[in-house]
Amino acid sequence: MKVALFSTKPYDRESFEAIDHTHEIDFFPQRLTEESVHLARGYPAVCAFANDVLGAPVIHALAEGGTEVLALRCAGCNHVDFDAVEETGLRVVNVPAYSPNAVAEHAVGLMQAVNRHLPRAVAQVRMGNYALHGLAGMDVIGKTVGVVGTGKIGTVFARILKQGFGAEVIAHDPYPNESCREMGIEYVSIENLFERSDIISLHCPLTEASHHLIDADAVARLKPGVLIVNTSRGAVIDTQAAIDGLKSGRIGGLGLDVYEHEGPLFFEDRSDELLTDDQFARLLAFQNVVITGHQAFLTREALDQIAKQTLENLTCIETGTACERELTPAT
Ligand code: NAI
Repeated sequence: MKVALFSTKPYDRESFEAIDHTHEIDFFPQRLTEESVHLARGYPAVCAFANDVLGAPVIHALAEGGTEVLALRCAGCNHVDFDAVEETGLRVVNVPAYSPNAVAEHAVGLMQAVNRHLPRAVAQVRMGNYALHGLAGMDVIGKTVGVVGTGKIGTVFARILKQGFGAEVIAHDPYPNESCREMGIEYVSIENLFERSDIISLHCPLTEASHHLIDADAVARLKPGVLIVNTSRGAVIDTQAAIDGLKSGRIGGLGLDVYEHEGPLFFEDRSDELLTDDQFARLLAFQNVVITGHQAFLTREALDQIAKQTLENLTCIETGTACERELTPAT
């Protein structure tokens, strides 16, 4: 199948080229947007990533240009306009699980980076400052850790925290999961989780229900000094509410791999550009906020799995075999 692969980074190209396959891939560095969608004209398959713009205008332009399948090389599909998908008959496939460990382990890394002030400590040592004041953290053993969303990633995170760190793990999920229950994880209401947790880690998808799950009301309920880690989707947190919570001290630290308005920022070297996003600038100014640019998925194992699954999805579509990874508008 002829495929236009958008938002290509060197590591994407390497992982797709390392696999023996029959598809013909053209790699485009551009993000897929209304401005770049003309590049996809004539390609029966288009491969897109988490920050490509997949609203109605792009979906309609893809269908008009002859594209039949949109292969997402990510799990999240909150950026796809499924009404437009239904109208156009475009088929959408995704990679629902590439490495839950990759994301869960990164969340643990962010948690400890914030808890033990690692970016500040490393910068101080590099400057010859070996003073320890301001660097005290907390033992995680015995602390209450609230996991929001115990799907594939949340379950791995919960296991690491419970069995590795010896934390008391509580969780909130509209669909509780048996393996978490067997680990002795208690499911609680979201309000109860907010009130009890010393650390909260977000692992739910972005949906209408989870949009701004952490808003000003939620912040008012949080245990003072709570550490929050978000590797799910930026808009699960209302950024202004988080900034206010950090300023008041209600939130004691924030580890972010995703940011509400990351679209125009992440995945590119913008070190020569003026930062015009005032909320992001404010977050960067806090000593107790650690931000990575949506890299939680980025392990060699996950990249390999993403490429393999995407190519398999395309083969299924091409050969008319039922594709388990096909997303329907009701997904
Ligand atoms: P999953 O589908 O296996 O699990 C999600 C869980 O969240 C499900 O158990 C579901 O019932 C639960 N859930 C749904 N709405 C909820 C709500 N309002 N409150 C609490 N729980 C809710 O998904 P998986 O693979 O664990 O991924 C979770 C999220 O992580 C993805 O949706 C994606 O947004 C994000 N992600 C981030 C990556 C990164 O690089 N930062 C990479 C991969 C995924």
